[in-house]
Amino acid sequence: MTYDFNKVIDRRGRNSAKWDRRFIGEGEKALLPFWVADTDFETLPEVKQALAACVEHGIFGYTLPPEGCAAAAARWQQVRHGFHVEEEWVSFLAGIDCAIATTVQAFTQPGDTVLINTPIYDPFFKMVEGCGRKTVASPMKLVNGRYEFDFDDFAQKAKGARLFLLCNPQNPTARCLTREELEKIGAICAENDLLILCDEIHADMVFDGRKHIPLASLSPELARRTITCTSPSKTFSVAGLVASVIIIPDPAVREKFIEVRERNSINTGILGLVAMEAAYLHGDAYADQVRSYLQANRDYAVDYIRKNAPAITPIVPEATFLLWLDCSGLGLSKEALEAFFPAAGLRLSMGSAYREPTGQFVRFNLGCTRATLTAGLERLSAAVKAL
Ligand SMILES: Cc1ncc(COP(=O)(O)O)c(C=O)c1O
Repeated sequence: MTYDFNKVIDRRGRNSAKWDRRFIGEGEKALLPFWVADTDFETLPEVKQALAACVEHGIFGYTLPPEGCAAAAARWQQVRHGFHVEEEWVSFLAGIDCAIATTVQAFTQPGDTVLINTPIYDPFFKMVEGCGRKTVASPMKLVNGRYEFDFDDFAQKAKGARLFLLCNPQNPTARCLTREELEKIGAICAENDLLILCDEIHADMVFDGRKHIPLASLSPELARRTITCTSPSKTFSVAGLVASVIIIPDPAVREKFIEVRERNSINTGILGLVAMEAAYLHGDAYADQVRSYLQANRDYAVDYIRKNAPAITPIVPEATFLLWLDCSGLGLSKEALEAFFPAAGLRLSMGSAYREPTGQFVRFNLGCTRATLTAGLERLSAAVKAL
């Protein structure tokens, strides 16, 4: 089946966080949204059918995960990413942000240090610090237009930490880490006996023939110290159903994680799990096609910005639908840059939200139809030319 990602579906008035921010002023409603990381694509028919059947039944009492859900999630890892997952390693949670908080509560004590890389998806520090733990950041280095680990710094900072939160593919730098990089990370974590939470939510959207490598698939030793988190949210436009997959091979780590999950009572709702099962069973062609569409959006946007707004430098995404833009060439202060995008009619995510220190970066969500993307890029180019 061929899916039509050019189909424009109006999301306004549908309680969309991206399109319907109710708490904003009237003037801001005209802004085109390229901020929060979901896509504007219709999900696959099998997901809609599974949800419709569940809704049709009409009783929504307390539920169990569908019997085939763990197997479907394991199938997806094996077939798409070459990661062998036993069904018993799989559990479910209401979102990966909850998995971060659960892991922090289960495996660290107040005052302990959790290692992260910056810039990074903001719950990586908000969840940790909100639980009364400290974060220590090993900043990524921008080398020839590509973010890289600073392994000396990382090894140094790993010494005092208990837990490392890795995001791969990475939000917001859109890096897809290589096997060599992952092996080095794994070795440093093993030397320092760190537990690792690896957030792989963007794994299905990896470009140019690259391969996503699940960290836990590298060796049984690494698998034992890794909690892998993933979700159908991004790939299949089901983020609002709030169901994520947590893969924990080590029985003792799993038991402790589930104990804290139960204590916090943060299980998923049935609709999210029904959608997940259908997506992971029937979504192969959809995932291939959405990846191609997003790669084409990436190429189009990078090319357009280079030609029409050359003061802005795109960091070319290796994965994800997130385009990280270096705006230092515009010569604006941090405050002026923050005002520049709304004045241009655009809502983007400011880089400072991800602990990017210069305040000169923004994140542009490419998960939209080509028509929306073109309209956004035209606004951007007009505003840059008018500066
Ligand atoms: C890296 C990363 N992890 C987790 C999430 C949220 O995951 P979930 O939809 O499972 O809560 C996002 C959403 O933007 C993300 O980019």
